[in-house]
Amino acid sequence: MCGIVGYIGERNATPIIIEGIKRLEYRGYDSSGIAILDKESNLKIFKKSGKIVELERSLPSPKETFGNIGIAHTRWATHGEPNEVNAHPHTDCTNRFALVHNGIIENHKKLRTKLESEGHKFTSDTDTEVLAHLIEYFAKEEDNFTLCVQEALKLVEGTFGIAVIDREHPDKIVAARKGSPLILGIGKDEFFVASDVTAIIIHTKKVIYLQDNEIVIINRKNFEITTLENEVVEAKISEVDWDVSAIDKGEYKHFMLKEIFEQPVSVRNAFRGRLVEKLSTTRLGGLAMTGEELRRIKKLQIIACGTSWHAGLIGKHIIENLSRIPVEVEYASEYRYKNPIIPEDTIVFVISQSGETADTLAALQEAQAKGARVLGITNTIGSTIARESDGGVYIHAGTEIGVASTKAFTSQVTILILLGVLLGRMRNLPPTFGAALIKELKVIPEKIQKILDKNDKIKKIAKTIKDSTNALYLGRGANYPVALEGALKLKEISYVHAEGYPSAEMKHGPIALIDKNMPVIAITTEDAIYDKIISNLQEVKARNGRIITIATEGDELIEELSESVIYIPKTIHTLQPLLSVIPLQLLAYHVADLRGFDVDQPRNLAKSVTVE
Ligand code: G6P
Repeated sequence: MCGIVGYIGERNATPIIIEGIKRLEYRGYDSSGIAILDKESNLKIFKKSGKIVELERSLPSPKETFGNIGIAHTRWATHGEPNEVNAHPHTDCTNRFALVHNGIIENHKKLRTKLESEGHKFTSDTDTEVLAHLIEYFAKEEDNFTLCVQEALKLVEGTFGIAVIDREHPDKIVAARKGSPLILGIGKDEFFVASDVTAIIIHTKKVIYLQDNEIVIINRKNFEITTLENEVVEAKISEVDWDVSAIDKGEYKHFMLKEIFEQPVSVRNAFRGRLVEKLSTTRLGGLAMTGEELRRIKKLQIIACGTSWHAGLIGKHIIENLSRIPVEVEYASEYRYKNPIIPEDTIVFVISQSGETADTLAALQEAQAKGARVLGITNTIGSTIARESDGGVYIHAGTEIGVASTKAFTSQVTILILLGVLLGRMRNLPPTFGAALIKELKVIPEKIQKILDKNDKIKKIAKTIKDSTNALYLGRGANYPVALEGALKLKEISYVHAEGYPSAEMKHGPIALIDKNMPVIAITTEDAIYDKIISNLQEVKARNGRIITIATEGDELIEELSESVIYIPKTIHTLQPLLSVIPLQLLAYHVADLRGFDVDQPRNLAKSVTVE
């Protein structure tokens, strides 16, 4: 949520930081801005509402934006509408400091009132501006730039990832974090700060992930990390092990489409090295739990938001089925405030693609405060959730840029299947079933590919529903959360109102909505309750509803009921969601694209929600 980038070195900062925030545009894209210190130490600020291209277009000549030190920001508005005034960087009364911020200053009103009473003049409606004035306030007494930032941050309640420059000290960037991610990139005689490695990976792969309450002071030749209390920190330099091709669209029109098509590989990467075929089980070393501890588990709680929460719901079906361990799935935003009950021998899992979602992080901390062991399932190496959890599993889906999550979802589900097998085999799951699941999992990537090969057909179906204003998604068992996920995908990127329902529950309400304009997208893959699903669809048909089915190859009966059928390969019931979600992702993608929307950056959303 919001992206920040900073550069200090020999080169012209402007193109570097503009390119950097473009890479971070998935974190927010309603307005943007840069601040540059030129050779004469003039502070120049350029801001614009709208996407970063608007800012780029509005910039004066390269000569006028030249400087070796600069900071930039792409915004997802929290306080104050997304206009030019509220865009970052923000500055103080004397235009001495410029600051970009990711996070929320919760006590900004109180601080603002105090500063205003002392004569400070505010220009924006943001919470962030208060920080610039606070730094100015301390600078009146003290000429030490770093110290002023430290003192200001000590007064702040809330979260921040910030980068600040100072006209009076034009050889420095000071950056700090608490609750919002921030990394330092180390180049040759140049340094970068950013909220995400993707912003700077074309320049360097050497990074330091700052920890909460740490501040980094970057000069042109070196840097120093301290705590807010000024204690020096020995930070570890990490090497990023992926390259820039991972964040290029390649031949695809959108990142989302590319990421949907990457799923045969990303799912394989999730289970690679984790199957123990000899013992018909799986291995998840990152859990850092002994066999005895795993056998003692009596309950699981899974906490997440959005798409990750849907993966958790699927996980509940699978894990309960395979291991008979009861699983509760909770929205992180609810869990954190409800004084949760965590019985003895409960293990808490948090699932988060970004590893930065504020609600999920707070839920993790709440569970830990209650003494629970919390394990993370994340995609982002070194993310806050990965660091703060007591162990966990990386899903290895690769960078996901499209705001609507796709490949991370199937990788999360894959990990939950591995977990189900692991816990199940330690209990009553027979080796034959464990072996069959592993065997089938190994061919799932090919089956996903077979569905992707139907992309053209799915696009044709999308054309038939693209003007609908509502859609209903139906599924049963583990396919019910798949229906929720299908509906969420459509909502997120094509702004069509859509709901997911358990098929049989339809008659208790949503059936009232059904008419000849309402597409009903039903997952009818054969299983124990196939006949019941067919009866539910008859009820739709009797009311002239339009039925699109996701059915198992060979199911000819379904054609009579359906306006269109998307066939998917047969698989073991447990693995079904990994296949049934793929056509729903493609359907949502094509509807949004056909409606002419910006698929990768849907309105009002952000990829990484680091505010409550
Ligand atoms: C945002 C994103 C969703 C994502 C959710 C949870 O709402 O737009 O795609 O599912 O956050 O994110 P996480 O990174 O914790 O999985």
